[in-house]
Amino acid sequence: MRTIITGVGHFVPDQKLTNKDFEKMVDTSDEWITTRTGIKERRILDKNKGTSYMASKAAEIVLEQANISADEIDLIIVATVTPDMPVPATAALVQKDLKAKNCWGFDLNGGCTGFICALATGSQFIESGRHQKVMVIGADKMSTVLNYQDRTTCVLFGDGAGAVMLEPSIEDDQGVQDFVLHLDGLGAEYLNIAGGGSLHPASYDTVKQNLHYVYQDGKTVFKHAVNGMTEVSELIMERNKLSAGDIKFLIPHQANYRIIDAVAKKMGLNPDKVVININKYGNTTAATIPLAVSEAHQERKIRKGDWLVMTAFGAGFTWGSLLLKWAID
Ligand code: UT7
Repeated sequence: MRTIITGVGHFVPDQKLTNKDFEKMVDTSDEWITTRTGIKERRILDKNKGTSYMASKAAEIVLEQANISADEIDLIIVATVTPDMPVPATAALVQKDLKAKNCWGFDLNGGCTGFICALATGSQFIESGRHQKVMVIGADKMSTVLNYQDRTTCVLFGDGAGAVMLEPSIEDDQGVQDFVLHLDGLGAEYLNIAGGGSLHPASYDTVKQNLHYVYQDGKTVFKHAVNGMTEVSELIMERNKLSAGDIKFLIPHQANYRIIDAVAKKMGLNPDKVVININKYGNTTAATIPLAVSEAHQERKIRKGDWLVMTAFGAGFTWGSLLLKWAID
């Protein structure tokens, strides 16, 4: 038994924040952001809406596409680092929005690798035979955890959501074939949001010290991201006896165009084999990969039988790769 994706969808807010807008906010330039990251603009969700709003919108598209009613969902997994609130889980708010009466669910914090972690987790519930329909969502409202006075982080991220429906297939030669996942807590000091948890609960001091915003040592994360994503992607291809020529698309986490380019070059993949949309959305954390898959599917670039390698690196550190044979016509 294999897990196949039977529906995919995404949601991004309409409001755009361009590099030109940032020129008026911090000491930066369109030229610096474009050449150092590949980002031109990102989307920003309304102040009065949370991550669950985008997650539910993406999930609704998936249900329609997979022709499944909300009642049939067995499990909802939401990968996010920006839940609507600490309790309850964002998955509960999505369940309410969808009116999915027969499911359970939970949130998963895998940083920028969250969607791959959630896809790997969801696939296990399908392969075990326990569940028939698992909704996996990656969604983040990064605009709520950015210091818009810190040019080293605020230009990098944006808001968005993507989702997929997982179902079983008796055909062994399709769907999720393999995954490699890693966790290394030594990375915690280089990429974190230190405030608002049990160690540094919200207080006047945590606000004053900017502890509720993303902190990143960009150079250190950059190096680990290139090496980590390349290593796991090469491993997954090697142990499944696939070469660069067999892969239709590498679908990497979209944190920096230079990271993606370096990984692709090390793997021997031509640029036309890499899905890139960072220019339009920036880094949407757990949403980057499902957003990229959904757009590529919409544009009919991915066809049934295509081999896809997803790979990501993020806070934890977490990193991983997932190999999939696309099953939608
Ligand atoms: O998704 C989770 C994983 N995250 C990542 O994978 C991100 C990894 N890191 C990166 O993408 C890059 O390291 C950054 C885009 C964050 C930074 O690029 P960089 O080439 O590593 O630049 P840097 O941090 O070494 O900064 C170079 C210079 C510095 O100035 P000085 O010290 O040389 O005078 C920065 O202050 O660029 C400056 N700088 C900026 N200048 C204009 C940093 N941010 C900006 C900015 N505009 N927005």
